[in-house]
Amino acid sequence: MVQSEDGSFTAYSKEFDEHYHSTKDGALQESLQKHVIPAFELSKEKAELTILDICFGLGFNTLATLYYMKVNNIEKKVSIYSPEFDKELVSSLRYFQYPEIFDDFKEIINALSTIGEYTDDTLHVSIYLGDAREYLLTCEERFDIVYQDAFSPASNPILWTKEYFRDIKSLIKDDGILTTYSISLATRLALYENGFNIYLATPKGCRSSTIASPSLLQDYEAIDMPHKISCNPDAKALSDLDFDI
Ligand SMILES: C[S@@+](CC[C@H](N)C(=O)[O-])C[C@H]1O[C@@H](n2cnc3c(N)ncnc32)[C@H](O)[C@@H]1O
Repeated sequence: MVQSEDGSFTAYSKEFDEHYHSTKDGALQESLQKHVIPAFELSKEKAELTILDICFGLGFNTLATLYYMKVNNIEKKVSIYSPEFDKELVSSLRYFQYPEIFDDFKEIINALSTIGEYTDDTLHVSIYLGDAREYLLTCEERFDIVYQDAFSPASNPILWTKEYFRDIKSLIKDDGILTTYSISLATRLALYENGFNIYLATPKGCRSSTIASPSLLQDYEAIDMPHKISCNPDAKALSDLDFDI
């Protein structure tokens, strides 16, 4: 465990040689500002939300979603699906030192950590214990929101390729919203080549991030992708073919 700038704890992965969150932006702030707040603001009109949380990790994005709904009295029906292949990590989460604001979700954290799912009248959360790429191929849900929060393209490229985003595109609704901390041109190209419109987000207190959607969005600065491509003719999206997948 490592304490991040906003006081919340995150973790460090030896396997990926990377922290689970930006220690500078803060684990909690990163989840709220780069993922939950923009996704919910852009989905205001919907009464029900189905969310894909890639990948569950310490569960900050899922828990920050519940926290945001609670403090804003949002009474939507929400279903969250989240692949995660680290079974030991998931079963250890009931002992993780979460921010106090997550105290109300202890029952949910215990259920997710022990049986991998939680359901009540308005909320369903389930963790798919396995490979995210496999999950996308078998998934029958269609998503309003995708939190794209894998380890970085440099350390976990198979969750950032154009083929990966092709699979995400087939599961996201036409008016769905994808949020990601990655602002790299390769990531944006992989999304753009699959028909996403690309936007710059400037979250409060954090470094900038990317929002993508099959639809045109108001209120966000559109990235002029043809211009970016003409200025960077050698830039290319990551591909499964580069990684023997
Ligand atoms: C950056 S962390 C996710 C942080 C998480 N969103 C949170 O809020 O705590 C990335 C997670 O992806 C998981 N992971 C990496 N590759 C995966 C794959 N192919 N399938 C499923 N999980 C994967 C890692 O075990 C790790 O928990």
